Amino acid sequence: MSGDTGGAYEAAYRRSLDDPDGFWLAAAADIDWVTAPTRALDAANPPMYRWFPDGELNTCHNALDRHVANGRGEQAALVYDSPVSGSRRTYTYRELLDSTARFAGVLRGLGVGKGDRVVLYMPMIPEAVIAMLGCARLGAVHSVVFGGFAAHELAVRIDDARPKVIVAASCGIEPTRTVAYKPLLEAALAEATHRPEHRVIVQRPQLVAELTDHDLDWDTALTAAAPTECVTVAAGAPLYILYTSGTTGPPKGIVRDNGGHAVALRWSMENVFDVHPGEVSWTASDVGWVVGHSYIVYAPLLTGCTTVLYEGKPVGTPDAGAFWRVVAEHRATMLFTAPTAFRAIKKADPDGKLLAAHDLSSLRTLFLAGERLDPETYRWAGEMLGVPIVDNYWQTETGWPIVADPMGLEPHPTKPGSATLPVPGYDVRILDAQGREVPPGVDGSVVLKLPMPPGTQAGLWGDDERYVASFPTAFPGYYLSGDGGHKDEDGYVYVMGRTDDVVNVAGHRLSTGSMEEVLAAHPDVAECAVIGVADELKGQVPRGLVVLKAGVDREPGDVAAELVRRVRETIGPVAALRRVDVVAALPKTRSGKILRRTMRDIADGKPTELPSTIEDPAVIESLRRTLTDDQPE
Ligand code: COA
Ligand code: AMP
Repeated sequence: MSGDTGGAYEAAYRRSLDDPDGFWLAAAADIDWVTAPTRALDAANPPMYRWFPDGELNTCHNALDRHVANGRGEQAALVYDSPVSGSRRTYTYRELLDSTARFAGVLRGLGVGKGDRVVLYMPMIPEAVIAMLGCARLGAVHSVVFGGFAAHELAVRIDDARPKVIVAASCGIEPTRTVAYKPLLEAALAEATHRPEHRVIVQRPQLVAELTDHDLDWDTALTAAAPTECVTVAAGAPLYILYTSGTTGPPKGIVRDNGGHAVALRWSMENVFDVHPGEVSWTASDVGWVVGHSYIVYAPLLTGCTTVLYEGKPVGTPDAGAFWRVVAEHRATMLFTAPTAFRAIKKADPDGKLLAAHDLSSLRTLFLAGERLDPETYRWAGEMLGVPIVDNYWQTETGWPIVADPMGLEPHPTKPGSATLPVPGYDVRILDAQGREVPPGVDGSVVLKLPMPPGTQAGLWGDDERYVASFPTAFPGYYLSGDGGHKDEDGYVYVMGRTDDVVNVAGHRLSTGSMEEVLAAHPDVAECAVIGVADELKGQVPRGLVVLKAGVDREPGDVAAELVRRVRETIGPVAALRRVDVVAALPKTRSGKILRRTMRDIADGKPTELPSTIEDPAVIESLRRTLTDDQPE
């Protein structure tokens, strides 16, 4: 953004908190409504806040139809770039609208209507975007399941979302192998109790699946379908459910509404990301994660941008220059990814030799999120690219940045280790265990004063009670992020990491609790713990420690290998649990609580003071060698 923006951030931030109605109704003017809202915030039923209670719209209309109507029909809407399959394809807004309207016709023909759920188990192919928007067109609710999850995780989500239809592809393509999706889908359906009525399968030439009587071939169905018009929905109606790892229990189905989401994402694209209609944005993530939902699909398309859909990894496809090639070739204005991707590139090409071959002059900003941005990666990326590096902190629950440098409003000086300032709409506080605000520089719980802005979690699918219960009584009136951190004297926010048993592995959010469930189910295991330990490339990786049942007389290495395999088969390869150690005992408090944090600190080489409640200090001392031995397996 050019020109004098002095004070623009402060003014916007203050107004967003003091006058949320005025602020968000003004932002709502950038969205096409069937019935324009007259009110923004509905605070009648806290902590269940609603936005734009009397507004009606269609999200797909806002992402596609209106741009075609406004003269963007021939502009590229989506550029699919897939080095792993050797394919590329550009869809103009008119073409993306045509395919989406016809796919909505397919779904309608299968009986899908307003409020019905559709589960998508898809790799990074255009059909995933078309299926998401096709659901939105009908007022149906999509739930995308990341392709790196295995059958059990898919089954859990199918049973919770109870979809009418499942849309899947025949395979995903990882740099080292082709992943057959159909057997995983069949195994999930065999495990799930819910029976979806239909399945639509995208056949990829790399691995064609055998179709049964229950399956429709995507191409055949699309050719036969009639395009379908947009269905008007209430602003508060659900657009999607996205499952994420909670502290305890099964994955949480975060519900996103239509109206608040469209307004917030449209606003964030220009004001936070500084990307404007007609420009090219590239988010290198996956449609299975919230970053992919928001900044591969919805925000760029709601804004009339060109979005790049990249199927591949940052390294080895064919080399660590892959990201530079994509930026240069598609003239991307912004690149948004996770720090881990940059650590992978740095490892393969530390001096950035591969940069020289590419013209990166289109790139204005690099945005990084999904995990803590370590100062060294921040420094390296800045040195290599010579553009601002913007760390931004948020979660599946919020759907868009909580803390960032709002580049479109007013760029700020950055401080390594901080994601900069609270974004307008978010009242970020740091509280101690008693719920009191702590002074600058002191660590505490990162919480958000309610209400959160539009676009954030509109409840938990089928379980609003669990949602309400997730607001801890110690902090009434606040949303607890699950992260710890502090603010400095200038109000900059430093998020230091999770305070619960959620781990962040290569920017992927996973629950150590669900991995422990898999280990504990093994017949030879008496007790177990999974902890997230620091990893140079992935930020964190999980490590398992198990105690075998008395009388089990097997090679520890064999049991460990079996456990690693079980986690991979149950949760999926994305869990990346590569190391399990068989140990004599786990350290516990006298009341029997396993001291996971103490083990994690020892493994990370942090200074540790053994808690006074420890049952037997000798146990932790004998574990020290195992925990600090960084052999891969
Ligand atoms: N389908 C099937 N398998 C998948 C998958 C998918 N969609 N995604 C990942 N996997 C598998 C991988 O093949 C790998 O399997 P392996 O154990 O056989 O090697 C395993 O899950 C772990 O994957 P990942 O954590 O991605 O590790 P990696 O070594 O393959 O790649 C990075 C590491 C850093 C290059 C990669 O994670 C990356 O680019 N991440 C940054 C971008 C991002 O996705 N961020 C998410 C939120 S912003
Ligand atoms: P997800 O819901 O998958 O987006 O993961 C959200 C979690 O990732 C947060 O609760 C944080 O623990 C972590 N996270 C995301 N972005 C950042 C960031 N910029 N800095 C530190 N942690 C982050």
